[in-house]
Amino acid sequence: MQKISLEQLVAFLKEQGFIFQGSEIYGGLANAWDYGPLGVELINNIKQAWWKKFVRNNKYNIGLDSAILMNKEVWVATGHLSSFTDPLVDCKKCHTRYRADKLIEDFSNGAVTGDGKTNEELLEYIYSNKITCPNCGALEYTDIRKFNLMFKTHQGVVEDNKSEVYLRPETAQGIFVNFKNVLRSSRKKLPFGIGQIGKSFRNEITPGNFIFRTREFEQMELEFFCKPGTELEWFSYWRSFCMDFLIKLGVDKAKLRYRDHSKEELSFYSNGTTDIEFEFPWGFGELWGIASRTDYDLKAHQTHSKENLEYLDPETNEKYLPYVVEPSVGVGRILLAALFSAYDEEVNEKNETRVVLRLANVLAPYKLAVLPLIKKNHAEKANELFELYNEHFSTVYDESANIGKRYRRQDAIGTPYCVTVDDETLNNGTVTLRDRDTMEQIVLKTTEVIPYIEEKLKF
Ligand code: GAP
Repeated sequence: MQKISLEQLVAFLKEQGFIFQGSEIYGGLANAWDYGPLGVELINNIKQAWWKKFVRNNKYNIGLDSAILMNKEVWVATGHLSSFTDPLVDCKKCHTRYRADKLIEDFSNGAVTGDGKTNEELLEYIYSNKITCPNCGALEYTDIRKFNLMFKTHQGVVEDNKSEVYLRPETAQGIFVNFKNVLRSSRKKLPFGIGQIGKSFRNEITPGNFIFRTREFEQMELEFFCKPGTELEWFSYWRSFCMDFLIKLGVDKAKLRYRDHSKEELSFYSNGTTDIEFEFPWGFGELWGIASRTDYDLKAHQTHSKENLEYLDPETNEKYLPYVVEPSVGVGRILLAALFSAYDEEVNEKNETRVVLRLANVLAPYKLAVLPLIKKNHAEKANELFELYNEHFSTVYDESANIGKRYRRQDAIGTPYCVTVDDETLNNGTVTLRDRDTMEQIVLKTTEVIPYIEEKLKF
């Protein structure tokens, strides 16, 4: 059961310093969110965990960081300029604007999607199922038109057609256009992947559900290149790999599912696509898209740029364009799923509520809190230990309020361990270490704390 609604989570995250509304003192900017002191730690931990498992410690993969602004021809080649669009429809009565496919998806609770349907088929579905305007209840819509999701801007001092550039709507194309450079410089052999983390921008028609769908967001994408004919094996490999990763990050297994795209839904170039979905309070939503994309992107760039992007197979001496499997995920979506999974409330025998954010250790903004029992007696030693532990893992020091309140504060922000510094520390060199989830306490030598926590942080 969800322990918290979306509205309550938004208020909680603001209160604790995880996520604030963007430009709040100016009345905000619709759909823009800023990550506060704890939010930035949490989001960095997600990115570092992904980088570790998908790039740094992965025997197949290497990393890249390409520019957000790219040559306009990139988007001509991939078809983004002509067809990276959403089907826009207006209610004729109240003039509210909708994504036609979203109207259908919401109406059918996700059972029917707009993928693969023409504008005419979408409208036909809306009318024959009497999907009325969610705002005013009318059943009278304009024709559906295409709305391009890319943000356009100008580079340089002259604002004309030639200076037009676009904020990238996905990081993936930065990888494809560097394929040759990476291949040459790394001397990698197939199969291998190139991973990248970075901001993407889409002028979404219906952003919403907090950070679930935003216009500016961060993606973690892997383009995994393999020999044609082996792609479905790799597709299945990455499908499980991504699911295991989410579970390791503490995302609730019971709320995760695969949704395989049907033949009708598949993009024309894909021979397999799965979404890993999470059950949010508003229903199942896509966390991770895993797609077998054949050689679509490399072929499009090869044709349009006239650069040969083929791979010379050293075993067979054949030249061919590799096939690609792409697991692509939004950092904010993992963060949201991890938070909904972690949030917990417990009521004790005195009828007091303890809020606990049961984040996986790898994600917790602080791994350890150092708390002097009595400020005037123990603060000096506690500060010394704080400095020592903070060199090894992210540690916070707190000397305000009584010890019970300080434990509660750390529970609510997900700190898995607290050490209390007291007279025993001064006399015997020991501290009491408390576990966030069990609330059990053990006594350790001050020097034993580092290996103890390092062991718990293994990921
Ligand atoms: N390169 C493939 C690609 O971008 P996508 O399904 O459009 O595929 C991949 O996006 C992932 O990026 C999604 O599964 C989702 O996690 C995240 N994402 C996409 N649009 C988003 C948005 N507007 N806000 C937040 N995350 C988004």
